[in-house]
Amino acid sequence: MNRITRFNIAVVKGDGIGPEVIDSAILVLDRLGFRAKYHVAEAGYACYQNHGTPLPDETIEIIKNCDASLFGAVTTPAHIAEYPSAIVQLRQRLNLYANLRPFKTYPGIGRYGDESVHILLFRENTEDLYIGLGWRHEDQAYNLRRISEAASRRILRMAFEHGVENKLSVTVVHKANVIKPSDVLFLETAHKVAVEYPEVKWQAEIVDSLCMKLVLYPDRYQVIVAPNFHGDILSDLLAGVVGSLGLCPSANIGEECSLFEPVHGSAPDIAGQKKANPIGAILSAKLMLEHLGDSELAKRLDQAVSRVIQSAVLTPDLGGTATTQEVTNAVISRLED
Ligand code: NAI
Ligand code: MG
Repeated sequence: MNRITRFNIAVVKGDGIGPEVIDSAILVLDRLGFRAKYHVAEAGYACYQNHGTPLPDETIEIIKNCDASLFGAVTTPAHIAEYPSAIVQLRQRLNLYANLRPFKTYPGIGRYGDESVHILLFRENTEDLYIGLGWRHEDQAYNLRRISEAASRRILRMAFEHGVENKLSVTVVHKANVIKPSDVLFLETAHKVAVEYPEVKWQAEIVDSLCMKLVLYPDRYQVIVAPNFHGDILSDLLAGVVGSLGLCPSANIGEECSLFEPVHGSAPDIAGQKKANPIGAILSAKLMLEHLGDSELAKRLDQAVSRVIQSAVLTPDLGGTATTQEVTNAVISRLED
């Protein structure tokens, strides 16, 4: 009998539409022939209500002991002051320092469907305003922002490396003209890293100006690298460019662990209504396959998704009437095409 690799995959479905889209992704992986044992772990608001914490230590342990993990989405209530976001905590505690987010247009989908947009965003994932240090004083509120040279260099090198390997230009995002000294440090580090990659064509862009340019000419950009907060906002802008948050996947990469999740949140406005677009989660599973070294399965999955989108089996966020299950079944039926 052939020995078939069987991966151990941690699964954190989370809240809202998280479980709906992750169930779709796992069904598609099964039908694709991906051999895995899934280890379900809890995180998020329901977990907090049941166990008093949004991120149990056990969940961290399960993820650490697996080959990779799939994550849906979690609800983070804004009204509970001391409540930390489970996904931000996960990224920090597992040192998942790079958040890679590919944004790609499909013909006929979204306002830029006729343009060929293919952007890979590298978002720093461990620091910036997300370190959770802040305080209130009378009627004022303050936050501390940390940008370190080491974390900046790490994400910048990853982006420039990708630029060299794929002959792509790199755009470094900052607001060093105003947010001093933290964005100055990020930009200075970019200049140092760029010297290591003389073949790469690169430019620095101020974040707000870049937002306008991405709306006007998204096809001019290839690799974008940003500190955490700028990267968060650019992600949703780029999701709008490609037509829906529901289409966008991401990979959180660290030295020891990796976690794959759709870019979107728990979408409480559509949870339980069968309207969630599962493509972001399914493409996150594709990124996981690539990371685990199975590029053949990843390619088949990617092609199946493209064909489904072209065949106009679409959820309501893309103007269609298909349910989560119908899109999932359509992807499964295209896996063998
Ligand atoms: P969201 O991403 O959940 O939703 C934004 C809009 O996009 C909503 O109208 C929603 O219906 C739509 N949408 C999102 N994903 C979709 C999908 N797969 N298919 C169709 N439509 C989709 O962001 P929002 O509303 O800002 O946050 C809701 C909750 O999610 C909050 O508690 C927030 O903290 C949390 N959140 C969690 C994230 C994570 O777990 N990684 C990321 C972003 C937000
Ligand atoms: Mg966001």
